Amino acid sequence: MDDQQLQKFIASLALEGLVTQISDADQMLARDHAENIPSEQNYFHYFRVTKSALENIERAKDLLAQDIKYILDMPSGHGRVLRGLRWLFPTQTIYACDTNIDGVDFCAENFNAVKVYSSSDLDQVKFPKQFDLIWCGSLITHFNQKMAYDLLKLFINNLATQGILVISSHGDTVIRRMINGETYGLKQNHLYDLINDYYRQGYGYCDYADNSGYGLSLIDKSWFEKMSQQMNFQVLEYRDAAWDNHQDIILIKKV
Ligand SMILES: C[S@@+](CC[C@H](N)C(=O)[O-])C[C@H]1O[C@@H](n2cnc3c(N)ncnc32)[C@H](O)[C@@H]1O
Repeated sequence: MDDQQLQKFIASLALEGLVTQISDADQMLARDHAENIPSEQNYFHYFRVTKSALENIERAKDLLAQDIKYILDMPSGHGRVLRGLRWLFPTQTIYACDTNIDGVDFCAENFNAVKVYSSSDLDQVKFPKQFDLIWCGSLITHFNQKMAYDLLKLFINNLATQGILVISSHGDTVIRRMINGETYGLKQNHLYDLINDYYRQGYGYCDYADNSGYGLSLIDKSWFEKMSQQMNFQVLEYRDAAWDNHQDIILIKKV
């Protein structure tokens, strides 16, 4: 895409100075199927998602009692949001964590992040710091209940007291999109089961085809409240579809 046009768009988002370099391996930049080339609209959407994440992160910043020194982005991917964190927090220490090694390396090289390679076994993931702020965009959205529990536990154990976790999740807006025909890569009968489980028990999950242990989840607010009684955290805010008018955002404080 033409750089001048892109910079004009970045300015319209009030994100002047944001690093706009995108890795060829970044799966979050949608590409035209026929030619595998991202369209202008794909670029615009990518950076709108960065901006929308930052709006939620700024809300957390307002609610935080302490200064922010250490930040974690997990899963960082290739830095769709981490570039925004670096823009908003130019001097703070930001950790990039993902199972995608190329993504973590890209974040270290381009956004001065500290690398932590993740694992599908979350018990193996270790951080050398306690974080004041954790951003988790679109990970619990792919986990079953056991993995989701382990992920929340990992975050709470690695948050400083009074620190805030900003986590995205699929809720009612995603269900509406499913009812309107979006499949999210799942078969129709699996979608029905997923939605049924969400309404019956507050948590629905289905593996993607040929991908045991990684799929799509739907999580009700009540599930996070239930978890808050088992771990030392408090749900500060539940923001419906607050990330890109799509995923819900939950602000969680360690107590
Ligand atoms: C939908 S992408 C979101 C990436 C990024 N947050 C963004 O918004 O651009 C999901 C990411 O989760 C990562 N992932 C999957 N399992 C993981 C795990 N156990 N630990 C850390 N990252 C994981 C994938 O490699 C992928 O980069």
